Amino acid sequence: MIPRPSSVHLDQETFAVDPETELSAWLRGAISVPLPRSDRGFRLAIDQDQDHDGYVLSTAPAGIEIVGGSEAGVFHGAQTLRQLFEDGRLPRARIVDAPRFRWRGVMLDVARHFMPVADVLRFIDLAAYHKLNVLHLHLTDDQGWRFEVPGWPRLTSVGAWRGSTMRGARVHARYDGQPHGGFYAADDLRRIVAYAAERFVTVVPEVDMPGHMQAAVAAYPELGNGFAGGVRESWGISTHVLNVTARALDFCRDVLTHVCSIFPSELIGIGGDECPVDEWASLERPGEVQAWFTGLMAEHLASLGRRVYGWDELLTRGAPTDAVIAAWRGPSPTIAAARAGFTVVSCPDISCYLDYRQSDDPGEPTPVGTLLTLDDVYAFEPIPPGLTASEAARVIGAQVNVWTEHMESARRVDYMTYPRLCAFAEVVWGTRDPASFRARLEHHLTRLAAMGVNFRPLDGPRPADARPGAPGNPRDRDDRLAELHEMTADLRAAGL
Ligand code: ACM
Repeated sequence: MIPRPSSVHLDQETFAVDPETELSAWLRGAISVPLPRSDRGFRLAIDQDQDHDGYVLSTAPAGIEIVGGSEAGVFHGAQTLRQLFEDGRLPRARIVDAPRFRWRGVMLDVARHFMPVADVLRFIDLAAYHKLNVLHLHLTDDQGWRFEVPGWPRLTSVGAWRGSTMRGARVHARYDGQPHGGFYAADDLRRIVAYAAERFVTVVPEVDMPGHMQAAVAAYPELGNGFAGGVRESWGISTHVLNVTARALDFCRDVLTHVCSIFPSELIGIGGDECPVDEWASLERPGEVQAWFTGLMAEHLASLGRRVYGWDELLTRGAPTDAVIAAWRGPSPTIAAARAGFTVVSCPDISCYLDYRQSDDPGEPTPVGTLLTLDDVYAFEPIPPGLTASEAARVIGAQVNVWTEHMESARRVDYMTYPRLCAFAEVVWGTRDPASFRARLEHHLTRLAAMGVNFRPLDGPRPADARPGAPGNPRDRDDRLAELHEMTADLRAAGL
């Protein structure tokens, strides 16, 4: 099973489950858990004395029982039960299980490449199958704005479309000449939220601001600083950021109000990463603009009963004390944020960025970033060494991030996400066992194959997954670490 449960007692002996019972009908569907249910020897129950996300699963010919600490716990037990089934048979088993971390996340970037709703639902289903419970949905970026906002129609009529897309890493400057785009209506987003909620996954939406805003500025040039171009077609960081006029601030508040009307998550992402200040040079203190801006947005979210979720740049750019920080610029921001008293989600790029290449095999599609093998992900420790126990307790979990510059389809997303997400799931569930992982994963991949997941085979890429014509730009780890050290100079300068 993946992730491996905390405690397992399995019999060699298995028993058949009658395919006509309600249980298997229930399992055939995309399991959501109706409660209470006690018929035909199948019992689901809640015991609030157990860990909230944990469960006890017992199987025997006389009956199957899942007792969860909550409905989420029962759901996790059901995922384990799904994995126990083989050819309509179950082993006798008693499994007592609970996760290490309460934030077991995955970020999906639907801005660089739009992903249709059905594919997002499938992405959620697969993440939930691995007992992840947070989908961080990166909804906007320089290369596309992906949802309708009442009163701002050009966000989607203009901002959701680009005329061409860079093909491969940006050092090559090749373009495909093919228009790309798409966006979600409010009902699409509600469907995503509801589908995730049935699987005990919280969708944390992100509207990246005030940088990574070129698509919005292309739609409404008055929100920018004189930029009159279109939605960005190349990768990398745009210098075309928001201005900070009353209209731009009202725009951001409008967007966040609308987002809060759709997403019940207490945490709302406002991004805050990689915001160049070039266009603010004529302002009095350009270096202080973002912190001021973040404060206003945090205030607005607080007025709606919500809190800021943001990238670790916010540590020096106005993070309110109750913000949750996604620490991505290598391992050091996790330490800085936890020491500064923030709640942290650990996602250092060198361990958690699933757009980074999986091997040095020349057949890997568009190899970018540092080498991040399956084993590297499996070895990732969300709590870096050196933190005190109370600092470590602020690291509520981790997430892997699926940036989609080089993932133009759900199949490509599958390839980059699996099986590394399987390894990550076991990291955050907290039951790593390197000695058995490989064998368990090999078996698990037969399940993913049956589900139609285009995972990367353990022995290397398939010819069909190659991407000739979209060359990469593999990075050296020491180089990247040196670059990350420079990128985080702001933290050290602030004494963090
Ligand atoms: C990021 O990778 N810019 C958060």
